[in-house]
Amino acid sequence: MQVLVTGGAGYIGSITVEKLIENSIDVVVVDNLSIGRREAVQPEIPFYQYNCGDRAKMQSIFIDHKIDVVMHFAASALVGESVENPALYFQNNVIETQNLLDTMRKFNCQRFILSSSAATFGEPEYSPIDEKHPQNPINPYGLTKLINEQTLAWYHRAYGLMYNVFRYFNAAGATETHGEIREIETHIIPLAIGAAEGNHLFTLYGNDYPTSDGTCVRDYVHVADLADAHIRGIGNLELNPDGCYNLGNGDGFSNLQVVEAVKKVTGMDFDFAYGPRRDGDPAILVAGSEKAKTELEWNPQFFDLEKIVESAYLFYKKTNT
Ligand SMILES: NC(=O)c1ccc[n+]([C@@H]2O[C@H](COP(=O)([O-])OP(=O)(O)OC[C@H]3O[C@@H](n4cnc5c(N)ncnc54)[C@H](O)[C@@H]3O)[C@@H](O)[C@H]2O)c1
Repeated sequence: MQVLVTGGAGYIGSITVEKLIENSIDVVVVDNLSIGRREAVQPEIPFYQYNCGDRAKMQSIFIDHKIDVVMHFAASALVGESVENPALYFQNNVIETQNLLDTMRKFNCQRFILSSSAATFGEPEYSPIDEKHPQNPINPYGLTKLINEQTLAWYHRAYGLMYNVFRYFNAAGATETHGEIREIETHIIPLAIGAAEGNHLFTLYGNDYPTSDGTCVRDYVHVADLADAHIRGIGNLELNPDGCYNLGNGDGFSNLQVVEAVKKVTGMDFDFAYGPRRDGDPAILVAGSEKAKTELEWNPQFFDLEKIVESAYLFYKKTNT
């Protein structure tokens, strides 16, 4: 079994690579390093610094390696940036993904797992959001992921592609060796840890949302649990060849609660400011993950916010001392 991981030098991709290797599954990584870091992938793993949609270069990988499954993490993934620069998102997420799927077709590689997002749902009509919830994205990022999902459904029907879609809610936390390190960070937990360590000032976007304390509410799911879902996905592709799953813990935490958790875990108090709402941010996003629990027998191990923050903090300490 050999898995091609696109975006494997990024946050969730690198942790999934770590877990695939732990499960004795061979891995090939493609990452253009636009955001990811070469050091995030162990040197002994075949690594190609390519755009995953570069048909000619990607063909060479399929010639050199017998790829059984593609796990597609590579994407541009920032809501605010997608609102400011939608062209980047349609190019990198839609066109590159279609090129990748067509390269797979050429080599009769029929197994695909997509990193999708809660952002495909838009403003929740009810909560928790299960897989039956209507998908009406309110930002270009969410729309590009929805287009990916719909493309897969048609490729399944026309070409027999077996796929699973995993819609993560908020990925968070770290393992002992891999975690969140980006040059420009926008995710609340690493930003709040950086603020606790005195590295930068910290802003929460919006305190006038219709939530208990006015800040956005999100569902934090540990990256190791996401990686575990992907490994289960490999076996699930034959059973549920067009399965779509929402992956979260089913519990919502407000931005202020996250800040409190970071203060408690780090033992540091820090100031923060409130900024205006960000375009395209729904007030509440909480996952209903019963389908994943039933069909994938997915059983997340990290459901306590402080434990998730603690894993991120331990990784921060390890990489910053
Ligand atoms: N982080 C989250 O909370 C979250 C939530 C929902 C969905 N997702 C999805 O999960 C996936 C991984 O997210 P992440 O947080 O690890 O992001 P990340 O930015 O850390 O990782 C993405 C990786 O893909 C690479 N990449 C981007 N475009 C590429 C291309 N065209 N060709 C090759 N490599 C490319 C980047 O260099 C980076 O290493 C993304 O598809 C994202 O949309 C993430």
